[in-house]
Parts: sequence; structure tokens; C-alpha cells
Amino acid sequence: MEQYIIKGGKALAGEVTIGGAKNAALGILAASIMTDETVVIENLPDVRDINVLLQAIEEIGAKVERVDRHTAKISGGQISLVSIEYDFIRKIRASYYLIGALLGKYKTAEVALPGGCNIGSRPIDQHIKGFEALGADVKIQHGMIQANAKKLVGSHIYLDMASVGATINIMLAATLAEGQTIIENSAKEPHVVDVANFLNSMGANIKGAGTDVIRIKGVSKLHGSTYSIIPDQIEAGTFMFAAAATKGDVTVKNVIPKHLEAITAKLVEMGAEVEEFDDSVRVVATKRLGHTQVKTLPYPGYPTDMQPQITAVLAMSEGTSIVTESIFENRFKYVDELVKMGASIKVEGNTAIIDGVKELTGAIVSAPDLRAGAALVIAGLAAEGFTVVEQIEYIERGYENFEGKMRELGASMEKVDAEDEKAIRKFKLKVG
Ligand code: UD1
Repeated sequence: MEQYIIKGGKALAGEVTIGGAKNAALGILAASIMTDETVVIENLPDVRDINVLLQAIEEIGAKVERVDRHTAKISGGQISLVSIEYDFIRKIRASYYLIGALLGKYKTAEVALPGGCNIGSRPIDQHIKGFEALGADVKIQHGMIQANAKKLVGSHIYLDMASVGATINIMLAATLAEGQTIIENSAKEPHVVDVANFLNSMGANIKGAGTDVIRIKGVSKLHGSTYSIIPDQIEAGTFMFAAAATKGDVTVKNVIPKHLEAITAKLVEMGAEVEEFDDSVRVVATKRLGHTQVKTLPYPGYPTDMQPQITAVLAMSEGTSIVTESIFENRFKYVDELVKMGASIKVEGNTAIIDGVKELTGAIVSAPDLRAGAALVIAGLAAEGFTVVEQIEYIERGYENFEGKMRELGASMEKVDAEDEKAIRKFKLKVG
């Protein structure tokens, strides 16, 4: 088992380049098999979730060629299976996008129920409601979701909540349905827009993505395309908070500053300086940050995927802060780990009350999920002494070369095998 070992206390400084958005890429890869022609996807992040999805689409017969680390050429012309039940697919939540994609293209799909991060119950009733409204018959049997339709016909769908997954999944299927589909109360996240833009580049007719009403006029088929994925808002936000937590000075490059506004606003409120450029942001913190209140909300609100990271920083900030999680019910499991590092945080229901302490101290902690894992790394980078973060396989689902990028900013952080005592000793000797 691999783990990160970190010697905290160094101010991060320099430049870091952000990769493509994982959550956009997941939708886009599923969409890419909806044409028989070849598509080229650029700016793909090289992270575990993406590699699992690529493997899954290869297993059902699509041709996948990794042109380079961040580019894949995909050809869905020879898909021979519409049933996906490999065990590995359960590891990623977004496997459900293959239902929308296959149902749209072949009018039938069978995919193992998704897994992903354990951050609370994650129903898919809105996805199913959407597929049924388009005329599909949907069943859950033997751990599989099965969707079948004679034909898909456009429909008017009102989502009960602005679900990212349901919006993208319904958009995928409706792209190849007959007639017009209207999704009301649709999610407005940047990755919803990116998937819509990609589908449109393949000949789809989707309007309104990024607003709460999306209109899709079904087309009979899609064609090949070359498309570059938008930068990852959450990876960028994570480095912004790491910079602020360590009283650093970091320029986060290859971002869309507009997508980071909610994160930037909080950092400024807490006392950091954030300078925006065309495609980068610079975060400078010269003193201990202050307290704030934050509630996670759908875009353009403060993202739930940045909730653990802000909590980690507030744990070291002056005063009492309140963080309310309104999207997922069980997203504070990492708080016990921060407490091991000396944080003073009390969780009541979906609210964390944080009494900022002057300093965190290094400890052995374990990542309970992807973003919480990133938050523990931030805490470790700022803490006094050594921190070991275990279960980093969660972190690697969504961050490419996390330790390497942190090291380029001056962090003392390495990925080592937990059994490799020699490597651990060597690291400790090196960093003192
Ligand atoms: C996506 C992101 C995830 C992010 C989340 C919220 C991907 C692969 N994952 O997850 O990183 O944290 O958006 O920004 O893009 N819900 C239902 N029924 C449904 C669907 C959702 O009740 O059918 C609820 C969920 O339980 C949750 C809320 O709606 O409380 C939002 O979920 P949703 O936006 O769908 O999240 P995901 O697409 O799973």
C-alpha cells in the first residue's frame, strides 16, 4: 500500500499547472462512444477514474488509443457489448454515464451499479426518471441497472434537485432521441457545459447548458470530433488552498478564473490575496488566515468538492468558523483525522463548527475519500512535523502526480510504499 509522507511547515511557492477536469472528462469519454467515427480527446487527466473508464469502454469493444499521457483517440464503431459488469467499473461513480451513452446510441444498456466515494447515500432516481420520461424501461436487478427502449422520444423533464450526474446522463440519451427534450432545474456546473459543448462538436443540438433549462433537439447520429477538456476547477482550488494554508505564494496556471469565483471569494474573505489573470490566479498569504462561514451549494455556489479543503484551512485559522454541507449527508468523516492533528472541530448533523488552533501537528491519518484525502495533505503541508496520509488510492482517483506537483512548489512530500521502511527513513533523513 502506498502512502504520502509529508514534512510540514514549508511555504509553497512557484507555479503549478492544472490538468483537465476529471468530472468533465468522465462525461465526455462516455459521450465519445456515441459516434461510430473517431474522436480525439485532449487534456485528459491521467488519473485512476479516467483510466478505469477508458478500460471499460475498451472492454465493450471500442478502440482506445492513448496517443500520449493526456490524449486519447477513441472509436466506438465496433462496440459489441452493451452490458458492463466488470468489478472494476463499480469503483467509479461515473460509470453510470455509460447508461445514457449506450441507451442513446443502441437503445439498450446494462451497467453495474456505481460505487465511487463514500460520502453518503447517492441515489440515481433522477437519472432513472429522465430515462423513463424518454420512453425507456429501467430496472435494477442483480446489482445492474438495465435500460431498454424501442425508441427514445424527447420529453419535458423537471429534476427534483440540480443533479450534475442526472443532467449529463439525460443529456447523453436525449441527444439521440427523436424530437425535443427540455431538462428543467438542470445543473449549471462547468463540466455540464463542457459535455454539452463536446456533444455539440459531434453534431448534437444542445442549447442552454450552464443555465437551469437545457433544450436538446435530438439528432439521428453524431460524427467524429477533436476536443480539449476544460481545466479542473477542483484541482485548481485545492492548490489555491494549499498555498494559503502554508502562507505561500503560488500561481495556479491553466485555469478559468470565472469557474473559481466562489473559491476565490472565500480565500479573500479569510485574508489571502488572490490576483486574477486571463488563465491563471496567484494566491498569496502572508499571515494567519481568519474565520468564515460557508455552505456548499450547486454551481455557482461554493462546491461541495472543496468542502474538506476549506475545513482543513479553517482548522488553523483565527476564530470560529462554520461549514455547512448541503449536498452530501456524510462528508465530514475526515474530521476525526484532522482532530488527530490537533484540530478542534465539532460536527453536528451537516455542520462543522471549527475553533481555529494556532498550529496543527503531524500525525498518521487516513484518507476516507478523494477530496478529504486532498484536505489531509493540505493539513500535513501546513502542520508542524511529519504527517503520513494512508489510503492515497482515493486521492489518486482525481489528482495527477499530486506529490510531484506539490514538490515543484517546494513541499517536502513523497509517495512511498508503507512497507518500505528504508524509503521512509531516507525521506526523514533528507528533510530533517
Ligand atoms: C457530481 C460530481 C461530484 C460532486 C457532485 C456535486 C462527478 C463524477 N461527480 O456527483 O464530484 O461532488 O457532482 O457537485 O461529476 N441526487 C438524488 N438523486 C439523483 C441524483 C442526485 O437524490 O438521482 C442527490 C445526491 O444524493 C446529492 C445531490 O443530488 O445530494 C447532488 O448530486 P449530483 O449533483 O447528482 O452529484 P453526482 O453527479 O453524483
